[in-house]
Order: sequence, then C-alpha cells, then structure tokens
Amino acid sequence: MKLSVVQFAPVLWDKKVNTQKIIDFIDKIDSDIIIFPELATTGYFFESKEETAPLADEMGQGDIAVFQQMATDQDKIIVVGFIEKAGIKIFNSAALLFPDSDLSACYRKTHLFYKERFCFDEGDTGYFVVRDENRDINIGTMICYDWRFPEAARSLGIAGADLIVCPSNLVTDVWHIAMPARALENKVYLAVANRFGTEIRNEESLLFLGRSAIHKYNGSLMEQAPADKETVITTEISPAETRNKSFNEFNDIFKDRRPELYIR
Ligand code: ACM
Repeated sequence: MKLSVVQFAPVLWDKKVNTQKIIDFIDKIDSDIIIFPELATTGYFFESKEETAPLADEMGQGDIAVFQQMATDQDKIIVVGFIEKAGIKIFNSAALLFPDSDLSACYRKTHLFYKERFCFDEGDTGYFVVRDENRDINIGTMICYDWRFPEAARSLGIAGADLIVCPSNLVTDVWHIAMPARALENKVYLAVANRFGTEIRNEESLLFLGRSAIHKYNGSLMEQAPADKETVITTEISPAETRNKSFNEFNDIFKDRRPELYIR
C-alpha cells in the first residue's frame, strides 16, 4: 500500500489557490493514501474567529465535498486539514476522506496551540480510528501540537491504529525527538505532513519548518522532506505488520500495560 505525504506552503487567506493546489496534488499522486498539512486550504496564522469563520467549510460541503468526490472517483484515501464549521462552532479539523464516503470522518484538534485559542473552539471528537475493510487498514488522526501529549498517540494505538497521520504546521524541530518514540511505543506507522514557509501578522512572523516525515513502526525514519521545499514523500507500508504487539515470547507492549497503576 502506497502512502504519500504532501509538504507545501499554503497561502494565507487564499482558499482558491490552496484548494486548486490540493486538487492538482491529488490528481497527480498515484498513492492509496495522501496526507496534507494542517489548515491546508487556508493557511494558519489567523488571530480571531471573525477571521476564521468566513473561511470555514462544513464536512460534506464546499472544498471538502470536492475532495470527497476525488477520493471516491480516484479510489484514494485523503486526509486534509481545514477550518471546520459545525453549527455555531469553528474547529481546526482534519477531514479523513475514504473512497466509501460512509467511512469518512472528521477529527477536531484537541490541544490548541498559541493563538489558535482565539480562532477555534476546542476539539470535541476525541481520538478515534477508522477501519477501511477493503484496504485492510486502521487509520487514526492527531493534529500538530497534539504530538506534545503522548496520550494522543497512545489513545490511537489502543483504539487499533496501524497508521497515525498528523497534519501539521510545526514551528519547532523538537518533534523529531518524540515522533519516533510515539511510533515505536505504539508499534504504528506515523506520518507527519508539515508545511513550510513564513506567515506574518502585525509584525509577528511564524516560520514553519517542513521536514515532513514518515516513521516505521520500529521508530525508524522511512522518508523525510527538506525544510523549505515543496515535496511529496512516498513509501510502501504494510499495515497488518503493526498488529502483533509482542516483541518476544513473554512481552506484549499493550498486554503488559498496568493502567490500574497509572495516574490520570
Ligand atoms: C501547531 O499546533 N500548529 C504548532
């Protein structure tokens, strides 16, 4: 099964340009699964809900409906970060779009970073895994800053993920220390689709650090993009290989857990 991660620099405010770019990538990437960055349709550095609300899409509508149709027509799984409107709420979300639209779902970012608290409501979906029976893969999502909370990847691991995808707009490099551990300790593939480029608001700039990565379930780095270039990284994955969590005759990383002794 072929997995691709797209690294690009969305243009702040310009949904038309970003959406066309995403459409072009989907058309030309011949992979089973394609992951795009956080807020890929709009750019990132907003400062209020007055700014994010007019750029929001509902699941199943607008840009998301277009991407869903492409997922179905081209038989691809697509994950893309977007501003989601749900009733009166605005979320920093990732759409997980499957060829069979009945499986499609939306993850709403749990841990809001920096000024996101002024732009979005706190995600309320929690962590969940979607199983695609046809492809025999279980996929879970977290978004960017969620990586700082090992509970996010652990929840997805326990829920049965073979692959954790992480649409991101990362502004530090420290995640490169943690992500291999998240992959190893849960024995899952982990794909980080980061963006690159700079966004400036009111003389404050955010530099996004690229280096999108795909980690194998033993933590090793399978593919990595450079820091500042539009890049598609692609690798073969074997989801079923993640499911046996034992590593010797006596130890199994999930069965050996002692949750009754852990502090919540
Ligand atoms: C982030 O959560 N966008 C750093």
